[in-house]
Amino acid sequence: MEKIEALITSYVKEVDLDALALYAQVATGKRLRAKLILKIAGENDRSLKLAAIVEMIHAASLLHDDVIDDASTRRGQASINALYGDKTAIMLGDILYSKGFLELVDFEQEIAQAISDAVAQLSVGEMLDVTLSDEINLDTERYFEMIYKKTAVLIEATAKSAALLCGKDEKAFATYGKNLGLAFQIIDDVLDITMSDEQLGKPALADFKEGKTTLPYIYLFEALNSDEQTILNSLYKKELTDDDKRWIKTKMQESGAVMRAINDAQSLGREALIAIKHDQNSDLERVITDMIEREF
Ligand code: FPP
Ligand code: MG
Repeated sequence: MEKIEALITSYVKEVDLDALALYAQVATGKRLRAKLILKIAGENDRSLKLAAIVEMIHAASLLHDDVIDDASTRRGQASINALYGDKTAIMLGDILYSKGFLELVDFEQEIAQAISDAVAQLSVGEMLDVTLSDEINLDTERYFEMIYKKTAVLIEATAKSAALLCGKDEKAFATYGKNLGLAFQIIDDVLDITMSDEQLGKPALADFKEGKTTLPYIYLFEALNSDEQTILNSLYKKELTDDDKRWIKTKMQESGAVMRAINDAQSLGREALIAIKHDQNSDLERVITDMIEREF
């Protein structure tokens, strides 16, 4: 990963030194997308470059997302918008993604198109997330469309592009990436309910307060009686008391809503494994099994 960090640093430095100083304060994550590229295409100049580009675009999307969500932390650290304001966070995001696109034009058209199209879809996904947060959403189809675009599309395009780079079956790897992305987002939504603030590095049970009716909440609504539905409705977008939090967590477990969402993520994970079975790539298989066989 150091080679990718060094590449990103050199790209940002080529644009502007002040931007580099700001970028140094962005909390980097697990680099899932970069790891996928290296595990699919192996490590070489082209795969390292593509990995750096995708991580720059992903970082840009999170900088903008933290402005949109008015988030003060990212991965347990102060977010750039919290430290320097929304304007700076937006412009740093603009620098990262436009430099990413500038480097992307060095790649074959099919790869450049796959990544660029994914970023357009990603932005549509974020818009959908914002509009779906206006009122309670009980439609699983709309939820899946939103998480597909917001999260899975870029992972799908990343895996597809890595396969194109090395001449592997791009359809199979796109399916792997899509299912990985969907499962990843569902699990992220489950962890918001089942984990503590400390385990998450950000406030737990934040989604419902922010207007996000994630999959476990949709399933919970389906399972509750009408009195309980009224209670859950009354908690939507509200600052939750400790009692409210306990009530939600208990009902989520009792009703099987959390388990149902976990089962969905696990079956998507199994579909991802089937798609790449022929590649016999234990690293890629482990990405899925680590994700779906974890503690919830
Ligand atoms: C995190 O969602 C957000 C995303 C995965 C996508 C954000 C996309 C954009 C802002 C579109 C703009 C794109 C570019 C390249 C500038 P979340 O809020 O559910 O997750 P979180 O808990 O990590 O914040
Ligand atoms: Mg967010």
